[in-house]
Amino acid sequence: MATISQRDTQTVWHPYTPMKIWPEAIAITSGKGVYLTDENGNQYIDAISSWWVNLHGHSHPYIAQKVHEQMLTMEHCIFAGFTHGPAVTLAERLLAILPGSMAKIFYSDNGSTAVEVALKMALQYWQNKGISRKKIIAIDGAYHGDTFGAMSVSARSIFTAAFSDLLFDVSFIPFPEKGREAESIAVLQQLVAAGDVAAFIAEPLIQGSAGMQMYDARTLDAYFAACRATDTLIIADEVMTGFGRTGPLFACSQVAHAPDIICLSKGLTGGAMPMGITATTQEIYDAFYDDDRTRMLYHGHSYTANATICAAALASLDLLLHADCSASRLRIADAHKQFAATITGHEMVEDIRQTGTILAITLRAGISSYHSNLRDELYQYFISRQILLRPLGNIIYILPPYCITDQELDLVYDAIRSYLQWKSAA
Ligand SMILES: Cc1ncc(COP(=O)(O)O)c(C=O)c1O
Repeated sequence: MATISQRDTQTVWHPYTPMKIWPEAIAITSGKGVYLTDENGNQYIDAISSWWVNLHGHSHPYIAQKVHEQMLTMEHCIFAGFTHGPAVTLAERLLAILPGSMAKIFYSDNGSTAVEVALKMALQYWQNKGISRKKIIAIDGAYHGDTFGAMSVSARSIFTAAFSDLLFDVSFIPFPEKGREAESIAVLQQLVAAGDVAAFIAEPLIQGSAGMQMYDARTLDAYFAACRATDTLIIADEVMTGFGRTGPLFACSQVAHAPDIICLSKGLTGGAMPMGITATTQEIYDAFYDDDRTRMLYHGHSYTANATICAAALASLDLLLHADCSASRLRIADAHKQFAATITGHEMVEDIRQTGTILAITLRAGISSYHSNLRDELYQYFISRQILLRPLGNIIYILPPYCITDQELDLVYDAIRSYLQWKSAA
């Protein structure tokens, strides 16, 4: 009988996958904690939280229980003209912990749609106020998703090349390289000075897809200050950084100036189910609160605020806000730091950096890019050792579920160390 992997090649088209070059996907049949088990019984440590979504481990019994209960109570209903307890409770609980003065929660389906909604909110906010501000500013290297608005505010790259003519114009400020932060801040200050910019969008503290490129909270705060001084709306894309990845619950919790709009997804449901959220302030909401229907936000999805997914998010939030979870995040951050010290200065290591539970290592490679030849070698090396790491070109990063134990972390560190030794010896 054909395996699931073999049947997959006949029928399924995978995301971000050159299907001819990587034809066969590993078929996962179960997940427990940090482990994913394939149809041949191999167990993999999920050291990247399955594309940065999983917070508490796979198939978490508490999340499963809450989802099961909600499924049997009311699985889903239309969210226009109707509402339900899980969506309202989730909104209340998120508003209580989000940075700044967030007052309203808008539900959608994933990180890209959370960004899409944020852009529409920002642009229409100015239109509804009768003020001409249409420009958007983003940071070089940004990745905000794959829908057309999200692609427009993302770096022009191989990801967007096929659609480049169709993307709207965005001004990009230089990424704040270490030691050159002032330059980047100055470019933003200059761009917003004219008072015609609708919004500035940023991945706070870490650009994920760009290769876990990190910058400091002082720079982020200076960006936000420049925007605040010119009434430019601030969109914080916390799709990856949200829910404790950078240490505190949100990356923006680390700065004095608050965003006007926050995008959430990924860890929102603990990685169990897809959901996007765009949170915003009363002031932005009020610009749409009108007797004139043309001023409402024309956006919505069939599955908006799905009750079962809200139940998963509430369960994940219970686990996240438990003291054990913040202790685990600190423990992971500490373990990363100690491991980093053991490979700093290695001839293969060009750079090593960390923010919270995220550790990234740039390896010396002829060509430093997403398409570095090292990528496939690295991926296969770790998979053959039953560790899921999905390098971004020549950049290895660890972004584990918070339930990972010290022993499991050591297995990941050992695999990286052995790769470095193997390459040095070659
Ligand atoms: C910062 C950021 N924004 C948006 C997205 C898009 O999220 P999704 O893949 O759920 O559409 C991602 C995905 O990696 C992301 O890292």
